[in-house]
Amino acid sequence: MRNIVILTGAGISAESGLGTFRDAGGLWTQYDLEEVATPEGFARNPALVHEFYNARRANCRAARPNAAHFALARLQREWPGEVLIVTQNVDDLHERAGARNVIHMHGELARALCGACGHRWDAPEVMAPDDRCPACGARATRPDVVWFGEMPYRMDEIGAALARADLFAAIGTSGTVYPAAGFVAEAAMAGAHTVELNLEPSATAGAFDEVITGPATEIVPAWVERLLGQAGGR
Ligand code: APR
Repeated sequence: MRNIVILTGAGISAESGLGTFRDAGGLWTQYDLEEVATPEGFARNPALVHEFYNARRANCRAARPNAAHFALARLQREWPGEVLIVTQNVDDLHERAGARNVIHMHGELARALCGACGHRWDAPEVMAPDDRCPACGARATRPDVVWFGEMPYRMDEIGAALARADLFAAIGTSGTVYPAAGFVAEAAMAGAHTVELNLEPSATAGAFDEVITGPATEIVPAWVERLLGQAGGR
């Protein structure tokens, strides 16, 4: 078993204090996603969208990576093969835990994007509709995150990694948003062993060979320990 692809969702950052979306009290129970996570919502009310992401950016800065993030960074360091983390999360907790090989398919809170010229740069703490793009000067700056109806980033690389995966794990995701929710089927078609690690079985739990339930900070370090023990025993 050489190549591992790990998909993470909001559940891996829940114990770092960052809200999930669809749990009780989740972000989509507090905000209307149509207003704050669609291009149409941004066009209607950019100030509200910037306010939503400014608050999440501040929460992210105050948060710390948890044992699950550190365990995945350890797996990347110690596994005798490739370990790619594909995250739906826009926080930077994987990187702050030492992970290196990370694809943010839904973008990053820490980055800004110019809707006019496509320039990307490190986002300031607070963004506002009147901000000008540092490259072209247009007042068209937005958080560099992927909204509903937009194409997730780096799908070609993700598809290629799934096609050569020997092991696919989904951690802390409800399996309700595509294309991420379809990755388990792609990995299975490539012959990968598939495992879900989640607080409770997700909507797509039935598509996995193995389902491990519990809080990520408990089940992910134990799962990594077991994997590395197997590799060591090889
Ligand atoms: N440990 C493990 N799993 C947890 C924990 C925890 N401590 N807390 C919650 N979970 C699980 C929940 O059971 C749920 O299945 O994490 C999952 C979170 O699901 P969602 O809130 O739907 O988040 P996610 O799957 O990442 O959403 C996918 O939807 O809104 C879009 O772009 C947004 O990237 C996001 C995408």
